[in-house]
Amino acid sequence: MPGFFSRLKWTLSSKKPQNKEIKEEKPKLVSETSDSAKSLPQIHTASVYTYGRRFQAYKDCAYVLPNDDTEIDRLHLQHWIVKNAVGRNYSSPIEAELEKGIKVLDAGCGGGTWTLEMASAYPNSIFTGLDVSSTWPTEIRPHNCNFVVGNLVHELPFDENSFDFVYMRIVGMGIPNEQYATVLSHLYKVLKPGGWIELVEMDGEQVYRGQKTTLYWNAVQQYLKTRGFKDGIVRDIDLKLGDTGYVNIDGLRIRIPVGGWGGKLGEVFLEDIVSAYKSLRPVVQPILKFSDEEFQELLDNVPKENNEVKQEVNLFMNWAQKPAN
Ligand SMILES: C[S@@+](CC[C@H](N)C(=O)[O-])C[C@H]1O[C@@H](n2cnc3c(N)ncnc32)[C@H](O)[C@@H]1O
Repeated sequence: MPGFFSRLKWTLSSKKPQNKEIKEEKPKLVSETSDSAKSLPQIHTASVYTYGRRFQAYKDCAYVLPNDDTEIDRLHLQHWIVKNAVGRNYSSPIEAELEKGIKVLDAGCGGGTWTLEMASAYPNSIFTGLDVSSTWPTEIRPHNCNFVVGNLVHELPFDENSFDFVYMRIVGMGIPNEQYATVLSHLYKVLKPGGWIELVEMDGEQVYRGQKTTLYWNAVQQYLKTRGFKDGIVRDIDLKLGDTGYVNIDGLRIRIPVGGWGGKLGEVFLEDIVSAYKSLRPVVQPILKFSDEEFQELLDNVPKENNEVKQEVNLFMNWAQKPAN
């Protein structure tokens, strides 16, 4: 989409290794932020290639979407979609603290779009992004921003009570149901007393979906079940927050249109969704037992159908506080 990325403050490019095994770079921490990481994890994450796409192969990580440039471009789009649909970059009541200067963790930061944008908007605060794949920019970034490789289901490489705000957006496909509580407790541990956590998730269960989308999504669900994911995890995140010990739990659900019927937002979201469908091809096509031509035909029909049924996708947002004492 010409001109789209110029609207993003940070147009990012990750280094493209040509070989099959990809070595992660040692994350660079800017001096004034180094106290937020216990130690630099010297982890080298292998990646694997299938259907011409690059996927993470981090130990114990169930995440199924790719980590190549095409996917990172999709995540930039997704950031724009969520921000425009919600009208802001976060909902927790922490504006004044961010202005003053606090420490923020972006858990499962992807290419770091949110982290970088927030670091630019709040220069007094310090932002750390963590992800199993290091697809963030290594050279150009704000001084108050750093990135660390790590798996949220493992112990986090930070001291207890390190952060004032933890943000985790659309990472659900990387945390199987039985590990979700573990992740919430890891995040609880690194959050300071009185600090805020905010979880944003999309429900794959699209509203008003047509036949093609249903066929596709059923195949995704079938695969996800084999990896420990069940339906509907995002719907009771507020309960899970309560079980972990968080208080002052609040939330919001909005529906985002898919397709030109929903204006520019819907148009861009449709582009994002078709790109995500392509990203999931390695798991979906074998389940559907489709030839390349049949799979392409399915993808070609999705936009028309989305517009006809006026499809929407649920976005769930929950924010809560770690008790102050
Ligand atoms: C859909 S992307 C969202 C990225 C970013 N949060 C955003 O909203 O733009 C999900 C990200 O979560 C990361 N991820 C998934 N499971 C993870 C895990 N267990 N630990 C750390 N990162 C994980 C993936 O590598 C991917 O970059």
